[in-house]
Amino acid sequence: MFDSASKLSYPLIWTWIPHILLGFGIIFLIRKWAGNYLRQLFFASTYNKMLGTYHVTCRELKRQHFDSMKNQPSTDPVLRKKGALRILEIGPGPGYNFEFYPPNSELTVVEVNPFFEDQFFKKQADHPHIKMDRFVVGSAEDMKDVPDNSIDIVVSTMVLCSVGTVEGALKEIHRVLAPGGKYYYWEHILEGEYWWVRMIQHIASHRLCPYQFVFAGCKLNRKSDEIIKRNRVGFSHIDQQRFRTPQKGGFQAILIFHSSHLKGIATK
Ligand SMILES: C[S@@+](CC[C@H](N)C(=O)[O-])C[C@H]1O[C@@H](n2cnc3c(N)ncnc32)[C@H](O)[C@@H]1O
Repeated sequence: MFDSASKLSYPLIWTWIPHILLGFGIIFLIRKWAGNYLRQLFFASTYNKMLGTYHVTCRELKRQHFDSMKNQPSTDPVLRKKGALRILEIGPGPGYNFEFYPPNSELTVVEVNPFFEDQFFKKQADHPHIKMDRFVVGSAEDMKDVPDNSIDIVVSTMVLCSVGTVEGALKEIHRVLAPGGKYYYWEHILEGEYWWVRMIQHIASHRLCPYQFVFAGCKLNRKSDEIIKRNRVGFSHIDQQRFRTPQKGGFQAILIFHSSHLKGIATK
């Protein structure tokens, strides 16, 4: 019985092999040619479902963090007269931060994922107190469209986890800030307390882990706190704190892998 079954299965396996190879080949080609496109499309289409609750939970904490922005005088005399600021946000996604910006602010954004543009402008329509300057599709590590010393405030929330290198983004942020300008950041970072969370963060951050497709290259194990503190770009003052975002039960407990956070203000 066993012999005849195994004799039968050998020729069958040989007929499967070309199909299996073809399947792998197609997956490889899709990844190579359309991987980034599909990843960005998927991320932008599912972002609100995946992180909507996070934004509700953190809303008041973020409001407090951004509150001091209103005391910053613009270095542009015309804007200063109007009590307005020139703000650059990197990686705004669908635009959850509009509500934290002082009235009359002029906003430029640099966003690598073009599929967020429609959602962003829809949200902007609900915040007419913000004047949109430009939506640049590009990367924070190379903001050649933004002149040196031209920005009063740079903002990033949960972006340093995804940029090519944190150092490259910081160099550009420092370049575009006017002297005395401020960089407000709110980022998730490598877990400090629980070793098992750290271990899963390292696994999820490997480029072959499916999490990298679903969350468009978000690295859960970034040590942005240490990199900013090293201050290779030369901020004159850095004020930052680690904290944990509020935790909830049920399915949302999964946010433990994402709950170790950093907030800070760096001054040029
Ligand atoms: C987790 S989302 C955060 C979105 C938004 N800041 C928020 O708090 O809801 C990360 C965002 O950063 C963008 N991003 C990733 N890498 C980037 C880069 N190198 N330059 C600019 N934006 C980038 C992504 O496209 C995405 O919109």
